[in-house]
Amino acid sequence: MQNFFKNYQVLFEDYFKNFIVEKTPKNLYDPIRYLLQIKGKRVRPILTLLTTDIFGSNPKASLDAALSVEIFHNFTLVHDDVMDEAALRRGAVTVHKKWDLNTAILSGDAMLIQAYKILENYPDSLFKKLFHLLNKTAAEVCEGQQYDLDFEKNYDFNTENYVKMIRLKTAVLIGCSLKMGAIIGGATKEDSDLLYNFGIEMGIAFQLQDDYLDSFGNPKDFGKKIGGDILRNKKTILYHMILKKGNLEHQEKIKKILSLTQENLNAEEKINQAKNIYIESGAKDGAREMINFYSNSAEEKIKLLAISNEKKKIFINLVRWLMKREK
Ligand code: IPE
Ligand code: IPE
Ligand code: MG
Ligand code: MG
Ligand code: MG
Repeated sequence: MQNFFKNYQVLFEDYFKNFIVEKTPKNLYDPIRYLLQIKGKRVRPILTLLTTDIFGSNPKASLDAALSVEIFHNFTLVHDDVMDEAALRRGAVTVHKKWDLNTAILSGDAMLIQAYKILENYPDSLFKKLFHLLNKTAAEVCEGQQYDLDFEKNYDFNTENYVKMIRLKTAVLIGCSLKMGAIIGGATKEDSDLLYNFGIEMGIAFQLQDDYLDSFGNPKDFGKKIGGDILRNKKTILYHMILKKGNLEHQEKIKKILSLTQENLNAEEKINQAKNIYIESGAKDGAREMINFYSNSAEEKIKLLAISNEKKKIFINLVRWLMKREK
């Protein structure tokens, strides 16, 4: 990670430490501490702190908002891992596997409440704006997650619907993280909206990269099971690229593979077969092209902001860092 972003990460981790304390009932709070302590990339809080800084305010003013978006994000991960039946997260056993399903449901709920509660630390007028934004975002994330589940059993939705789904499940929280930083930093309404739109494009690229890494990442870096999406029959960008780039045979083959259960096809075999078609059909390369398309589009949005070129460069570097990531 570039040193520049590292500073925000350090600022955040320092603040975060005080939040992760032991509390009772242990079975409610231990899983929360467990997940929060395994460091993720902290992308969303970095976005919030950076944006406040760029608009000329002290980034410390947005530490609570940064905490809120990171805890909200972690809440979504706990429930997402239940829905996706994932056993590995950030290189460690997932909450529902380490404890159990009920623990994951309730600890997730408690995290969501904490994410909202932290915003109470802001004065009324700011609180209202941040609260409104988080509410809108949270509802959209649920909608996106529902589409994601619906698409496990559906083969005929188009790429446009897929992009709409990832916009909801992932990109809106990236946009929200930036916009919270802009609001606290005193940006104009116009700039905070522009920044939000930048976040949407970057967030779409971010989820495309996540889909790509889920099949083609390195297991050591990625921290989640490679091929997890294939096992869940997820119609990721790689699937959509087969529809666009592959021949009829590729298309029929992938539809078949992504409908088989593990009783019909052994897990590792299923992953290998799907990955081979992703490569052969040109879907793997197509996915990279689409990642580039959305990251370029994010960079274009940055140019519209009323900030110095030097500051624009920081956001552009951010996009490039996120698209090169391996985890
Ligand atoms: C994972 O988010 C969920 C997605 C939206 C792809 P991150 O890739 O930001 O996960 P952590 O927080 O770094 O573990
Ligand atoms: C991420 O989707 C969306 C949310 C967590 C809201 P994924 O299911 O692709 O995320 P990972 O890959 O499990 O992190
Ligand atoms: Mg998942
Ligand atoms: Mg999911
Ligand atoms: Mg994923």
